[in-house]
Amino acid sequence: MTIHCILNGEEVTFNANVNERLINILRETFPLTGAKCGCLAGNCGACSIIFNHKVVKACLIAAFQVRGSKLITIEGFAHTDEYRDIVQGFARAGVRNCGYCDAGKILTVETLLVQNPHPSRLDILAGFNGIRCRCTEPDSLIQGVLIAASIRQLRLYGRAI
Ligand code: FES
Ligand code: FES
Repeated sequence: MTIHCILNGEEVTFNANVNERLINILRETFPLTGAKCGCLAGNCGACSIIFNHKVVKACLIAAFQVRGSKLITIEGFAHTDEYRDIVQGFARAGVRNCGYCDAGKILTVETLLVQNPHPSRLDILAGFNGIRCRCTEPDSLIQGVLIAASIRQLRLYGRAI
């Protein structure tokens, strides 16, 4: 089938089998390899992207669901100020990374901060429920998100609000 959608801000058209996984389409057709093929079962979050403003696991999205959608991968998000807020927050907190599930972690933080600019520690832990990261300690991750939230407020409002 022929599919039209908006990918990282640009209109794209491609052919895919109706049930082909979106993660494979992104990695093989475009190729955008920031989202990884991990468990392919919805458990690890390494394949995360933003799909119509929500973080989803691209291994669970079939090609036919992509028609007319808006997709943002970590490659597209990496050009934004919002991305820089998050990676600076992680760096200042000393978040350790092998990089394998960066897409999942960073895009999860983004949707969390959009919904809740002042998340509590519990909010952050709940937000990361769908990410299985072998590298990052929960305390440094929480600290990274809190620092990223402060950096964003300073950038947007000139002070913490
Ligand atoms: S590869 Fe999609 S959740 Fe693990
Ligand atoms: S950064 Fe998550 S598995 Fe390494």
